[in-house]
Amino acid sequence: EETGKSGYDHFMLKEIHEQPRALRQCLRGRVGELTGEVDLGDLGDLTPRAVQFVACGTSYHAALYATQLFQQAGIPAQAFLASEYTTSTPPIGDALVVGVTQSGETADTLSALREARRRGARTLAVTNTVGSTAARECDHALYIRAGPEIGVAATKTFASQLAALNLLTLGITSVDDDREVISGLRDLPSAVQEILDDSVAREVAETYRDAESYFFIGRGLNYPVALEGALKMKEITYKHAEGFAAGELKHGPLALVTENTPVFATVTGDDEMARKTIGNVKEVEARDAPVVAVTDGESDVERYADHVLEVPDTHPRVAAVVANVQLQLVAYHTANMLGRSIDKPRNLAKSVTVE
Ligand code: G6P
Repeated sequence: EETGKSGYDHFMLKEIHEQPRALRQCLRGRVGELTGEVDLGDLGDLTPRAVQFVACGTSYHAALYATQLFQQAGIPAQAFLASEYTTSTPPIGDALVVGVTQSGETADTLSALREARRRGARTLAVTNTVGSTAARECDHALYIRAGPEIGVAATKTFASQLAALNLLTLGITSVDDDREVISGLRDLPSAVQEILDDSVAREVAETYRDAESYFFIGRGLNYPVALEGALKMKEITYKHAEGFAAGELKHGPLALVTENTPVFATVTGDDEMARKTIGNVKEVEARDAPVVAVTDGESDVERYADHVLEVPDTHPRVAAVVANVQLQLVAYHTANMLGRSIDKPRNLAKSVTVE
C-alpha cells in the first residue's frame, strides 16, 4: 500500500495531486485540436429537451453544477438526490436521466436510474468505472477517465466529473461562449497545477485547526463548490462544516456565526453575483467571523478577508473547479494536523451498495 502512494502520506493527497493528469485524460481526444469541436461519439446525438440528474454525495454536487450548465444553454435541468428520487417521483416527460456516479455501483443511484428506465426514460451514466453496473444498465455511458481513486473522500473524480459534464453540455448544446469555455477547459489542468505548486491552504488549515465549525458559501457555480468544500471537511476532519448558498445565510445560519466560525467564501469574477456574495461576506465579517476568500482577485473581496486562497483568472466554469482544489487542500491539511484516518474515515465507505 505504501508504494501505491508514490511517496505521498495518503492516497487522498496523491489523488489531489493527480488532478492535472486526470483532467488531461478526461479531455484527451474529445476536444478537436484545430477545430475546438467537442466530440463525444454518439452522445452528441442525444439532444435532450430536458435533463434530470440523479446522484449521491460528492457526485450530487457535480450534478448541481451541471444543472447550471444545461440551464445556461437553455435546457431545463434538475438535480435530485438519488435516495429521494424514487419516493418523490418527479414527472420525467421526455427528459434524459443522467446518473452521476464515480463507482457506478451506488445502490441509491442505481435504484433511481432503474426507476427512470421503468418509466420509459433514456438514461446516461457519467462514471469513472468501465463495466460498472450503471454503465451496463444505462442506454449510454460517458467515462470521466480519472483513473482509480482509493481515498474514500472523492477528489480527482469530482474534478473529472465537472470537466466531463462540461464536455457533455458542449457536446449536446450550442451556446455563444462555447469557444471561451473550451479554451478555459484546455487551461484547466495547468490552472490546477498552479494551485498545487503554490497554495497557502496549509497555513490556513493551521490557523483554524481548532475551530468547532466551518462555513462555506458561494453563489451560482460556486454554490456546489461550497457544498463540496463542507462535505470534504466533515468527512475527513469529523468536524461540523456546512455549505450554504451565500444568499441563504441571512435566512437562518447567520445566527450561528461568531468569531469561532471561519467562513470560506468562494468569489470569482466581478459581476453582480460576486458583489452580492461580498455583501454576505461583509455580514459575517461584522459578526467577527474570520473570512477566507477563495478568489481570482477580480473583485475586492480580499479587502474583507483574513486569508486569501488564490484562483487563476479563468472562465467562471473552470474557476469553480480550481477553487474546489483549494478547499480540498484545506480539508486535507486540517485532517492531517488532527491525526485523522484520512483515507478511511470512520463510518464511511468508498461505495455504498445498500439503500
Ligand atoms: C459514498 C462515498 C462518497 C461518494 C458517494 C457517491 O458515500 O463515500 O465519497 O460521493 O458514495 O459515490 P458514487 O460512486 O456514486 O459517485
